[in-house]
Amino acid sequence: MGKSKGSRSYLNPKLPIGRRIDDLLRRMTLDEKVGQMCQYSGLSEESETWVREGKVGSFLNVVGAEATNKIQRIAVEETRLGIPLIFGLDVIHGYSTIFPIPLAMASSWDPGIVKRAASIAALESSSQGIHWTFAPMVDIARDPRWGRIAEGAGEDPFLGSAIARAMVEGFQGSDLADPNTIAACPKHYVAYGAAEGGRDYNTVDISERTLREVYLPPFKAAIVDAGACTVMSAFNDLNGIPASANRQTLTEVLRGEWGFDGFVVSDWNSVGELVNHGIAGTAAEAAKEAVTAGVDMDMCADAYRRSLARLVKERKLSIKVVDEAVRRILRIKFKLGIFERPYADPGRSKVVKSKENVEAALDAARRSIVLLKNEGNLLPLDKKISSIAVIGPLADDRYAPLGSWSCQGDPKDVVTVLEGIRSKVSAKTKVLHEKGCEVEGSSTEGFAEAVRIAKDSDVAIVVVGERGDMSGEAASRASLDLPGLQEELVKAVHGAGVKVVEVLMNGRPLSISWSAANVPAILEAWFLGVQAGNAIADVIFGDCNPGGRLPVTFPRTVGQVPIHYDHKATGRPPSEERWTSKYIDLPWTPLFPFGHGLSYTSFEYSGLKVERKGKGRAMEVKIALKVKNVGGREGDEVVQLYLRDAVASVTRPVKELKGFKRVTLKPGEVKEIDFALTPEQLSFLDRRLERVVEPGTFTVMVGASSEDIRLTGSFEVKERIAFSEGRRKASRRRGINQAR
Ligand code: BGC
Repeated sequence: MGKSKGSRSYLNPKLPIGRRIDDLLRRMTLDEKVGQMCQYSGLSEESETWVREGKVGSFLNVVGAEATNKIQRIAVEETRLGIPLIFGLDVIHGYSTIFPIPLAMASSWDPGIVKRAASIAALESSSQGIHWTFAPMVDIARDPRWGRIAEGAGEDPFLGSAIARAMVEGFQGSDLADPNTIAACPKHYVAYGAAEGGRDYNTVDISERTLREVYLPPFKAAIVDAGACTVMSAFNDLNGIPASANRQTLTEVLRGEWGFDGFVVSDWNSVGELVNHGIAGTAAEAAKEAVTAGVDMDMCADAYRRSLARLVKERKLSIKVVDEAVRRILRIKFKLGIFERPYADPGRSKVVKSKENVEAALDAARRSIVLLKNEGNLLPLDKKISSIAVIGPLADDRYAPLGSWSCQGDPKDVVTVLEGIRSKVSAKTKVLHEKGCEVEGSSTEGFAEAVRIAKDSDVAIVVVGERGDMSGEAASRASLDLPGLQEELVKAVHGAGVKVVEVLMNGRPLSISWSAANVPAILEAWFLGVQAGNAIADVIFGDCNPGGRLPVTFPRTVGQVPIHYDHKATGRPPSEERWTSKYIDLPWTPLFPFGHGLSYTSFEYSGLKVERKGKGRAMEVKIALKVKNVGGREGDEVVQLYLRDAVASVTRPVKELKGFKRVTLKPGEVKEIDFALTPEQLSFLDRRLERVVEPGTFTVMVGASSEDIRLTGSFEVKERIAFSEGRRKASRRRGINQAR
């Protein structure tokens, strides 16, 4: 087709994108239009034929410059219109240089480092022909049984929104057409994290208030604030209408209220699964449901290819619906510059796993570690210590640190904890190692040797937790305990009378109640990526003072789930009194609260000032305080600001995170921390689901965790402030939960 290209104005990059789309759409046949709406995984002979016929818009899981270029050449040079393919991939926490899993990165409470990780992932993957990542996962998750909690930023909408923005900004950069950036795809829209019982793919039934106040905000942050240009529709049923057929969320909220002009891709076969959900009798009905709800691209169900053209010809589906979906897909292909630059440049491959990228992964890993407990300041250890026993099934494991969705990560690049420790200690230090047991399984054969080396050492470092594949998709667990005999192993080593440091590698909160009560030092290391062992050793020996904080509550036992810090008060808040809201066989508090994390130094808070200025929408609340490092080492504090609306027309959470700052302080150093709150941040949905700020008192709480509140104050709001949310009212009248 090459020679005739010149006359086609859609190929002219100087024209506005709208005109290019109009021109191209006019030239497309119905089959070519539907083709743009189809995505397939990997290459096959059949899909290659479809590409040649102009019947494929996108692939996922085609990896590497050579493979993407080969099939792209067919799309661009051998099809009638030469529309390039868009290549998507799950670049979740790095491409080849694997960073900490998203839950770990959220523990850094450092959007800067999160953004940098995402931009490096974009740099590496784009060099290999990838245009688009299925990330960030911005699902709020309050049930650690759900394996996919590992892929998100935890339980809180405020922290989750900050991380969502940072990831989108990192992937997409400031210019989508920049060859080093990729399109983001916040997922899974929406409320996938609220699956009943934490069982993956399960039903979600929540109120519109909860949907809007808890589950939608990180999507809004990713889309409206950061400009994410695609969205993935989820697998789950949402209040009776599956998310991939839900017009209220996909069209009324996403496009109507938020003005989203990118495209929506379904989750893997989530269009086909509308049949299993029982809202469609056939794949054709499923395709119609999905496309009319607002799903523009069908990932792997092959339902659009098989049905859409026929539905249009039979006048069961308006061509306008198809045209609109194709417009949205083409808009993003144009914005990304794929028409101008369809091929990966093999010369760019050197950006993959560069020294700088690996250093950034180390930095991110160090900042993600959370010191859960440190009795008697057991940590940090002296590098000149005479002997260390490094025990546990994950101590020398090079798979687990990659976590789930490890993309092109290579276990050979992983530094294990044992390796990290060996390269850190003095030449004279004796480092002994024994696995003790497997992550799962019932053999205690290694216990005796583990106990023996522990007895022979000054300290035992026990590395336990989950394998990388025990969290992530389709990896829900009914128990939150350490799997297998690992707790028995910890007990046996502890019983040897040696000082024990427990290092946890896991993709979810674990109910490590015994360890929390008995083991003096515990580090939450999550799955930290290729530099895991170095980062952990840096913390163990004090080259890095840990500053991570939990982005999710740790329950004492699975029976406490769901447990999250921003719960409602109830009519009978828990107390020693019998007739209050609690279990009779457990304390009502969590094992470790949201926001918790210790340091090798300590911080003093003082001088809280709260000032409300201005009126109405122009009102601003200024909050200032001082934090001082009163210990002997440089360290990071994450200053957390919580708010409570004391009395409102609907019940409000006992506290809600409204601000945070991670700061580094030298010994004796004092820093002034300030926050400015807008009326929007004080607002909530009233009885009519209108967004308002109501007059009354707000309690301000500032501290080092959601439980460790150091300073409190308050301010008054004098008048009611109302917000109009665009087309929000129309969708409210119909009720987001009601059938169409
Ligand atoms: C997952 C998505 C992922 C997609 C493509 C699905 O099974 O739910 O998160 O992006 O597969 O790999």
